[in-house]
Amino acid sequence: MAQNDPTTRPLSELATTEVQLAFLFHELRSKFQKELATAKAQGGLEELVERWTGSQDSVTSRITANWVRSAPPALQTVAKRDLANLITEIFLRSTTQQSLGQLRVTTPQQVAGQFEKLAKLFDSEVMECVDEVDLGLLRTDWLGRTSGVLTLITDNWLKPAPRELKPAVGMEFNRLKSQVESALENWQPSKESIRESAAAIKDRVDLSLPGVIRPIGSHHLIRTVMQEIEDIFFSIGFSVVEGPEIETPYYNFEALNIPEHHPVRDDMDTFYLDVADDAPGKLLLRTHTSPVQIRTMEKRQPPVRVIVPGKVYRRDNPDATHSFMFHQIEGLAVDTDITFCDFTGTIEYFVKQFFGESVKTRFRPSYFPFTEPSVEFDVSCIFCGGSGTGASGATCGKCKGSGWIELFGAGMVDPAVYGFVNYDPKRVSGFAFGMGMDRLAMLKYGIDDLQVFFQNDVRFLRQFP
Ligand code: PHE
Repeated sequence: MAQNDPTTRPLSELATTEVQLAFLFHELRSKFQKELATAKAQGGLEELVERWTGSQDSVTSRITANWVRSAPPALQTVAKRDLANLITEIFLRSTTQQSLGQLRVTTPQQVAGQFEKLAKLFDSEVMECVDEVDLGLLRTDWLGRTSGVLTLITDNWLKPAPRELKPAVGMEFNRLKSQVESALENWQPSKESIRESAAAIKDRVDLSLPGVIRPIGSHHLIRTVMQEIEDIFFSIGFSVVEGPEIETPYYNFEALNIPEHHPVRDDMDTFYLDVADDAPGKLLLRTHTSPVQIRTMEKRQPPVRVIVPGKVYRRDNPDATHSFMFHQIEGLAVDTDITFCDFTGTIEYFVKQFFGESVKTRFRPSYFPFTEPSVEFDVSCIFCGGSGTGASGATCGKCKGSGWIELFGAGMVDPAVYGFVNYDPKRVSGFAFGMGMDRLAMLKYGIDDLQVFFQNDVRFLRQFP
């Protein structure tokens, strides 16, 4: 035997797992099949069988000595089973390749004996079948039309049998054939194998199945609009600051020049928090983002150019244009030389960037305690193009025929406010504005109900991915 013949080496050098062991046997089986084909063509079948299964120094005896005996306990049973399968294969293939004469079978008793061996072999193979796959392989092995055992027997045993043996061979053949056929027909998996294969199915990973698809979310429209607004202001030198949603009356009112009994507080009569009696002061949910003007100026010296996006809270009953919580974006620019022109120029730039070049703007006088002068900024109606009449010729419902839509409040920072943050009102000037982000989103995206932003109905949200 060649030096590198694996059967001369101990199993521990060759395989440590069941799969590796199965591979070794697989290699041996193909080697045998090749040698068998050569032997059939050139003669020497007997020697071949002797070489593989003989009692002295044959392939299978070496396997027993070198592999099975020294196999670790975990592999021992598997090794034994694989060896038995190999021997079966060799027996089946070699005997059915030869004629009865070559097998030295001359009497009906010997014929019966030969068939009995095959029948036993078949029985044990059926017993080993665990599932339909095994059964299918067994069926081809035995009933396969070109090289199934029964075909080989017909060709090599039955047809060339001498006349006096033919009836015996024919009878045994028919018996074996019906045994094989009915066994394959009536095969039922054993309870144990059902359990095993159920477990195998559970463990099996089907790589062809689609993976777990994790839906990718998207921004809420308010968030998208917020980022659009931020980007526009970033482009002209503003930065973003944020402030707390729970405020003190000082920041929400007093420092914005809204003293305790000022009538504008009525509009902002709002949500106060329940605080302990000995708490240092009252707390409320901010009613606008303007307190962050104060917080920013307390911390920074001019020049200040910031925008403040965030949630604000008011005691409003929910309807198509009101909500107890909504979003504002505040703007504040303070420097030594800021004029009303800078203010209108900035606002105009923003509005045109946001809604498009074609919109027109206007401002009207208004009143806020913390700006002087104060204005209300309007844009020409996005829906009717400022004409006041809709496509159908009827009065535009959005601007109620006026051609203008009120956008936000703004103004030049009231000098009184600078007093609260220690800015010198003689040296600095600036402007501030506060716009409703939800309102901007509704106008830009043609949404006529504010509530849809807060209902979280995905059918709405998905329209703005
Ligand atoms: N804070 C005001 C409001 O909520 C808006 C505003 C902000 C007005 C800044 C002027 C300057 O109505």
